Amino acid sequence: MDRLEFLKRMGALVAGATMLNFDASAKSMMGFGEDEADGDIDADLPELVASKKINTHITPMDAGLSKPVTVLVIGAGNRGRTYARYASMFPNSMKVVGVADLSKSRRDTMAKNHNVPKENVFSDFRVALSQPKMADAVIIATPDNLHYEPCMKALELGYDVLLEKPVAPTERECRAILKQANKYNRIVAVCHVLRYAPYFVALKEVVDSGAIGDLVSIQHMEPIQYAHMAHSYVRGNWPLSSKTTPIILAKSCHDLDIIRWIVGKKCDTIAAEGSLHLFRKENMPKGAPERCTDGCPHEADCPYSAIDIYERRKKHLSVFDLPRRDEVLIREKLKTTNYGRCVFRCNNDQCDHYVAIMKFDGGSTASFTMDAFTPWGGRRTRIMGTKGFIEGNMTTFKFYDFRSGHTSVWDKKVREIPEYKGSGHGGGDHLLVRDFLRAVSAQDQKLLSSTIDVSIESHLMGFMAEKSRKSMKKMKM
Ligand SMILES: NC(=O)c1ccc[n+]([C@@H]2O[C@H](COP(=O)([O-])OP(=O)(O)OC[C@H]3O[C@@H](n4cnc5c(N)ncnc54)[C@H](O)[C@@H]3O)[C@@H](O)[C@H]2O)c1
Repeated sequence: MDRLEFLKRMGALVAGATMLNFDASAKSMMGFGEDEADGDIDADLPELVASKKINTHITPMDAGLSKPVTVLVIGAGNRGRTYARYASMFPNSMKVVGVADLSKSRRDTMAKNHNVPKENVFSDFRVALSQPKMADAVIIATPDNLHYEPCMKALELGYDVLLEKPVAPTERECRAILKQANKYNRIVAVCHVLRYAPYFVALKEVVDSGAIGDLVSIQHMEPIQYAHMAHSYVRGNWPLSSKTTPIILAKSCHDLDIIRWIVGKKCDTIAAEGSLHLFRKENMPKGAPERCTDGCPHEADCPYSAIDIYERRKKHLSVFDLPRRDEVLIREKLKTTNYGRCVFRCNNDQCDHYVAIMKFDGGSTASFTMDAFTPWGGRRTRIMGTKGFIEGNMTTFKFYDFRSGHTSVWDKKVREIPEYKGSGHGGGDHLLVRDFLRAVSAQDQKLLSSTIDVSIESHLMGFMAEKSRKSMKKMKM
């Protein structure tokens, strides 16, 4: 590809993405204020009446246990650290008593932060799980292809398990984990953290209240954000579907799960399309070297420049385990790790756009779009019912009642609540831990929203979507 064509392509992609405006005012959300000449818009729609507030579902973050649940953390990376942080915040409810990670600096840091005794600090999870049971529960936060083995062993040893998503890379392994959990009568909570976020809890409650009438259809979008796509699914941990899981599971199993949860009925059929449009060798601009730091002539224009993302904007630096945010240290990482490679030269195959359509028992439908080429992340959702409509962007949602014209709003600023700070996914990360600890303490999996059986069901939707995309056939669940 020559330079002009490359620039045109880059410009078109980013301009196209920024034109989407999901954060519009209530009026433009409803289509008011637009020219009605095309006949699509009813000028007599009732004006918006002063918005009412929807119950926020902000609950205490502390599990409030009288005796802490003890945990062994397997995988002390990004997610393992996130969950372990809960123990520092609420030591009365959780205590980290063991850690396993291949990285010495990661396991040592976690051991130091939580006063883990030396004899409970391990390199490989296999060694940790060859010891007698040392805790009430295990947190499994290893890479996607290393969930199955530790989970099966931990259940056999009698641990309850907080298991990162995706459950496992194959349908067979997912089903085997469910069987093992039942066999040993243990609790497995899958980290479908969105289910615990107050935003989604409130949204589900509005749907379940019947206020929208019958749920007829859902449009749900997962905008990955262009730099996040390059970071995670081109250069980073999940570039190859065969080595991890296809992106519909690796990134979007949360979304299939949320759609299934909101609809509240079993998925009947699913069909999908998608491909890797941009990050391929044939799209590489002329003269692009192996790394952005090798004097690439396109560095100043390329939105995916590693120098721009990591060094200038200081995004996604947690993967580097740096002692400080220092440009010299970051440059060194760009010269020596995959994160400095040209995005057109990575050995990657994950789709950068993906659409799936679903039909549920009873006939309601959902369309799901995952897109790399957006300026923001998060989620965007529209729910169409026979009596009302909901539109939200994971920060706020509005319910519009057709008959009265009233709107109700959920707009709690979760990040401003002191004990919710540092809990990603709209508060869901630590609220999941809280509910897991309560479930383990009471030995009652009903205290969880994401039990292993319901999580397996939404994972199967992902496997079927991928089968459909590859075979170009609609799949019956
Ligand atoms: N729930 C969510 O929203 C969410 C978000 C991001 C990632 N994830 C999932 O969480 C999991 C972990 O992701 P991450 O971003 O924390 O990755 P990470 O690379 O930061 O952490 C994984 C850790 O596992 C360790 N590890 C690898 N093999 C090991 C072994 N044999 N024994 C012990 N430790 C081992 C690695 O050294 C690393 O520190 C992945 O499955 C990922 O898909 C979930």
